[in-house]
Amino acid sequence: MNKKIDTEKCESFIDDLISKMTLEQKVLQLQQVSANCVGEKKFWEFVDKGAGSFLHVLGKDLPKAKKKMKNADKIPAIYGIDAIHGHALHNGATVFPSQLSMACSWNPKLVEEMGVATASEVASDGIEWMFSPVLCLGRDLRWGRVDETFGEDPYLVGELGAAIVRGYEKAGNVIACAKHYLGYGEATGGMDSYDTEVTERKIREVFLPPFKKAIDAGCSSIMTAYGSIDGTPITASHRLMTEILRDELGFDGFVVTDWCNVEHMVNDQKVFPSNYESSVACINAGNDMCMNSPDFYPSIVKAVKNGDVTEETLNDRVRNVLRVKYRLGMFENNRKQRNTIGAEKHKKLNHAIAKESLVLLENNGVLPLKKSTDKIGVYGLNATDVHNTYGDWTFYTHPDLNLNATPLSEAYTVWEGMKVVFGEGNLFYNQGYDFNGNIFELQACDTAVVVLGDHFTHNGECHDRQGIEVEKNQIEMLKRLRKLCKNIIVVMICGKPLLLDEVKENSDAIIMAFNPGGRGGLAIAEMINGDFSPSGKLPISIPHRSGQIPCYYNRLPGWHAWKYVDSPAGNAYDFGDGLSYTKFDYAEIKVSSKKLREGKSVTVSGRITNNGDYDGAEIVQLYYRDVVSSVITPVKNLCGFRKIFLKKGETKNFSFKIKPEDLSLVNANCERVTEKGKFQLFVGANLKNLTVLEIEYV
Ligand code: BGC
Repeated sequence: MNKKIDTEKCESFIDDLISKMTLEQKVLQLQQVSANCVGEKKFWEFVDKGAGSFLHVLGKDLPKAKKKMKNADKIPAIYGIDAIHGHALHNGATVFPSQLSMACSWNPKLVEEMGVATASEVASDGIEWMFSPVLCLGRDLRWGRVDETFGEDPYLVGELGAAIVRGYEKAGNVIACAKHYLGYGEATGGMDSYDTEVTERKIREVFLPPFKKAIDAGCSSIMTAYGSIDGTPITASHRLMTEILRDELGFDGFVVTDWCNVEHMVNDQKVFPSNYESSVACINAGNDMCMNSPDFYPSIVKAVKNGDVTEETLNDRVRNVLRVKYRLGMFENNRKQRNTIGAEKHKKLNHAIAKESLVLLENNGVLPLKKSTDKIGVYGLNATDVHNTYGDWTFYTHPDLNLNATPLSEAYTVWEGMKVVFGEGNLFYNQGYDFNGNIFELQACDTAVVVLGDHFTHNGECHDRQGIEVEKNQIEMLKRLRKLCKNIIVVMICGKPLLLDEVKENSDAIIMAFNPGGRGGLAIAEMINGDFSPSGKLPISIPHRSGQIPCYYNRLPGWHAWKYVDSPAGNAYDFGDGLSYTKFDYAEIKVSSKKLREGKSVTVSGRITNNGDYDGAEIVQLYYRDVVSSVITPVKNLCGFRKIFLKKGETKNFSFKIKPEDLSLVNANCERVTEKGKFQLFVGANLKNLTVLEIEYV
């Protein structure tokens, strides 16, 4: 948290408090529970006892529990919620695009504003803690939680992660929780919660940097990952939790386990005989708080008495939790928040983000639609499905499944958006397909907006896929429509990348929307109409075939063709791809000096002109490659980007300052260093259109 507090005063307040606490009161500070896990009865027992934290408490229960604890003079509990893309577990709150969708904007400023808005809505409910952002990398597209990530690239994930953390913690009354620490998305086979076989060098090279950026941005809490690395459950890893997170990165917030990790280490990973040993391992490794493993509390009380956990360790853990509560002002009586849930300002922001998060992947000139008097056919279940438009982690899916709820906040599906923009009289709707493999009767038209994609149950925790094909019936429907309609515009509403080769063959344009949130459908219709020019670019690569996974761009080089014999080469769409209605020309790309010296920087600069017919935004991308290095380094690595808005005809200059540390690698000794020698810098609109510059670090 970046709020200014008097550190000395804070630490002496905490020391004083701890000195007056009983063993039981201390351990309770480290226990978090939710009614949907431990049951109503136990939940209220923990309220009476004075547990340190609760999660998923909404509605009347929250003020009731708070009041009970206040009347009993307990230390205030910190309440946590999964506000993953907006405070969306509260029906009525603003539902922003999914993290993956939002990442397409490559706009940290907007993402930060979204963070401010969400924190304010969360605080309106009296909640102090959001379990967001997800800083896992979406590199195995089979993994069920790719929709929750900012995509595949550590640099982009880190920049957007830091931005959202700044936003969440700006007002000082809500904290972020960067998760899942560490390597969760890299589980073997893309299977949620399984082992992640990565080396410490790779951890430092790829997975740690986004967390470091989040911590530097003031992130107050971290959640551990379910999986294991090299045979050790991450929750029990002293190396990760203490030596790296605390001693190296200097993290001074608190760490929470994920849901029932104590039990999982006993029942599934089978590294401890009972919840007692598992709880002890958890706290000794460096976790401060334990989520939803109610045996943790009695186990640790016993363990301190037995000497399996020292009083000093316990006090340290309690101190970490109390420090954050102090910073949040939870020991003061003036935590007031105006109710901003679903505020007009947030709706407008949601609209701006939705517009910038749409990626135009194909367009043979059909878009934007010229005003025509022809009827437009809108096809596909996902054109009207609110669940899939919203995506995972909303009141429909969590804490309990509630699919028949009526959304109380905005819920523009594509169909709703099309009606607003084109007028209902100019449209008709055909469901076309369902998610049970059916195709329905199709009506012909000149221009078809065909909304394909996946179902929200194809994504999320415990919902990994073995392949990422668009379902057969949707493709078959598209083929039939190709014969019936002159122009086909496909909109993809899906949690993660899906294979698009057949979609491309049977359409004139493809818009990738992922889960675009409450204003998504409106933004899509406006884009189809040409009210604005698309500017989103992919934060994740899309292969031709599922077997090409993983297909992230920044892989290490090999030399045997980099191609499978039974699939086309490369990706269908690369990280950084995205078209526009307008045309950008780059000029005068140069570097200020060919030599880079320690403690100094060089500037890469250029000029960009909007030579098309629309105002628009371009995302300039900067990559580097270490030409010769002591360890193998990626073929390209993103190290900078700029989103530049240009009116038609306008020209602007852009520049990037490159310091030696921006070109670093992690060497065989696991040290982050920049090695002397030549580097290539690549600047441009996407991976296929880059100007190459050379510099030398001397
Ligand atoms: C998920 C976390 C989430 C937690 C609380 C876990 O199963 O992995 O991301 O924050 O549940 O809902």
